[in-house]
Amino acid sequence: MKRAFFTVLLILSIFFFADRAISVIITDSKRLVVENRFSPESKEVKAEKEKLKIELGKRLFFDPMLSKDGKLSCASCHKPNHAFADDKDFSIGINGQKGDRNTPTVFNTANLKFLFWDGRAKSLEEHAIGSIQNPKEMGETVGMVLAKLNKDPYYSKEFKKVFGTSQIMADELLGAIAEFERTLISKDSDYDKYIAGNKKALSQNAKRGMDLFFGKAMCAECHKGPDFTDGDFHNIGLPITEDVGRAKVSVSNKDTRKFKTPTLREVAKTAPYFHNGLFETLEEVITFYNAGGGNDTFKDSLKKPLNLTEQEQRDLINFLKSLSGRQLKIQSPFDKK
Ligand code: HEC
Ligand code: HEC
Repeated sequence: MKRAFFTVLLILSIFFFADRAISVIITDSKRLVVENRFSPESKEVKAEKEKLKIELGKRLFFDPMLSKDGKLSCASCHKPNHAFADDKDFSIGINGQKGDRNTPTVFNTANLKFLFWDGRAKSLEEHAIGSIQNPKEMGETVGMVLAKLNKDPYYSKEFKKVFGTSQIMADELLGAIAEFERTLISKDSDYDKYIAGNKKALSQNAKRGMDLFFGKAMCAECHKGPDFTDGDFHNIGLPITEDVGRAKVSVSNKDTRKFKTPTLREVAKTAPYFHNGLFETLEEVITFYNAGGGNDTFKDSLKKPLNLTEQEQRDLINFLKSLSGRQLKIQSPFDKK
């Protein structure tokens, strides 16, 4: 009797587990079919690859292997503790060569239509080639960088994980760097908090400065939108030099000495200012704007004397200082933890 009971139980449990096993196979195979047809990778796998791609881009950004002499990385000029800009008027490339322009911040470049002061690149990917191959910056060829990366066991392994290929190609190298750059967004500044509804986030001075910025001082005519740039080119009447700016790219006379309106996010940390690093302080910049810029026949018609009082000029500077965000500390992956 007892034996018969156990036999029945055994047979029942075999049926039960066999049924479970089959249904798992069926659901699994169903899922495989569904996934293969509509999305080759699950969301989790995609998210993990995206994370690895950003990590890879970050390492490349800090890796001096990208330059010809192995001494200069993107971060040598775009310094993390300087809001990814530089403290020099002109950048210093390989072999101590002085560049032609001031290093701008990489913060909030993700949405820019044009990159560089003259807009000669249209995407972060296209831009990165320019930086690597500029003889006055990293002085290397993309081909040589790829050869070095393909020989490096760490990069070979990581690129394979992200892109599934055993040979690292230019698109993948540039794509990874650009993906890291897109994560560099300045946010949570006192201004952002104020806009989000915290009316105490800005001091009275900064608030008055904000009203001037968007009103009488007409700054927002060009420094507009969430990134404080219209993405366009203007001649603001800086002292004339050999650098013709946008005109070299567009080959149009009317673009003479026009430069791209830079973002003002993190501006308190990105001195010196302008494409030629002419001014060391925001005070000097505001004095220049207040006087209506210099004399240049190609100067933008918006640039007129502003007649701001001393107090108003201080208020504007206070507002500019409120555009610095609270950043995550970004450390070089090569620094010892
Ligand atoms: C030798 C210093 C130096 C190095 C190294 C360097 N840059 Fe730059 N970067 C500059 C300068 C100078 C400019 C502006 C050049 C111009 O407009 O003509 C610039 C511009 C940029 C811009 C455009 C920002 C904007 O608002 O248009 C980005 C993005 C950027 N660099 C990323 C990188 C990346 C990525 C690397 C590494 C692959 C790199 N840079 C290496 C000096 C450097
Ligand atoms: C006609 C368009 C225009 C107006 C109006 C304007 N700017 Fe600018 N701003 C620019 C351009 C273009 C540049 C870059 C010029 C260059 O480097 O040649 C610039 C650069 C700057 C910089 C330097 C940023 C850096 O990273 O180097 C600051 C700061 C600045 N502007 C603040 C202001 C303030 C404050 C006002 C209002 C008083 C103002 N701007 C009005 C177009 C404008």
